[in-house]
Amino acid sequence: MTRLLHLDASARPGRHGIDPHGSHTRALTHRFVARWRSARPHDPVRYRDLGTAPPRLVDHDWIRAEFTRRDAREPWMAERLADSDAMVDELIDSDLLVIGAPLYNFGMPAPLKAWVDGIVRIGRTVVFDPSRGDDPYVPLLTDRPRRVILLSSRGGHGMDEGGPLAHMNHLDPHLRTALGFIGIHDLRGIAIENEEFGGERLAASVAAAQAKVDCLVDALLAETAAPAPRQPLPA
Ligand SMILES: Cc1cc2nc3c(=O)[nH]c(=O)nc-3n(C[C@H](O)[C@H](O)[C@H](O)COP(=O)(O)O)c2cc1C
Repeated sequence: MTRLLHLDASARPGRHGIDPHGSHTRALTHRFVARWRSARPHDPVRYRDLGTAPPRLVDHDWIRAEFTRRDAREPWMAERLADSDAMVDELIDSDLLVIGAPLYNFGMPAPLKAWVDGIVRIGRTVVFDPSRGDDPYVPLLTDRPRRVILLSSRGGHGMDEGGPLAHMNHLDPHLRTALGFIGIHDLRGIAIENEEFGGERLAASVAAAQAKVDCLVDALLAETAAPAPRQPLPA
């Protein structure tokens, strides 16, 4: 069984191709999850709509609660961390994260950043161990492989990894760094570009992204279905 966690971060609630002014990233994540589910209908999918229901921002109370030892927390502190704990539980419980996130002003949408702030948690997803000297952080989400599929959309173009304007895209590298910090290293990205141009340029980019999504789902499904490599028999 593969457990999916599906997150959408676009501020636009509808889906491109279905709703007027719909979101391209929501259309891509929907495509990914629907294709996955049609092959593996019993795999559970948990959904969180960050774009229309953003997590609360980190504030003073959250920081006080987070940096108070768990056994010394007052009831209000546990309450303040409850949302963040729920997001961590969902993440720990997942094998495959499908994240729809547009590029907003060169970075991730604020609700996705609020999610990142909620899931990087000392003692839950990463440990700070001062006895390790200059390398004190130990990621905790290394118990099994988890994969991240980042499905993005941009108004401009050339911002894929290695592209001429890749330096203006801080979304993919930021998410890669933050998730790598807690032990999730396998992040693959597919993006639509040229959204602001519209017309044929956009249509070609949408078609290319859709084809890449289908290909990626099929490749992951094939890997998931493949039997685990046989262990050599003991001599
Ligand atoms: C607030 C805002 C900021 C944006 N900033 C950028 C940007 O920095 N670079 C870019 O290429 N496109 C930018 N865009 C365009 C979006 O990335 C593009 O419209 C994308 O398709 C939005 O995703 P969605 O279709 O899922 O809503 C921005 C759009 C908005 C609304």
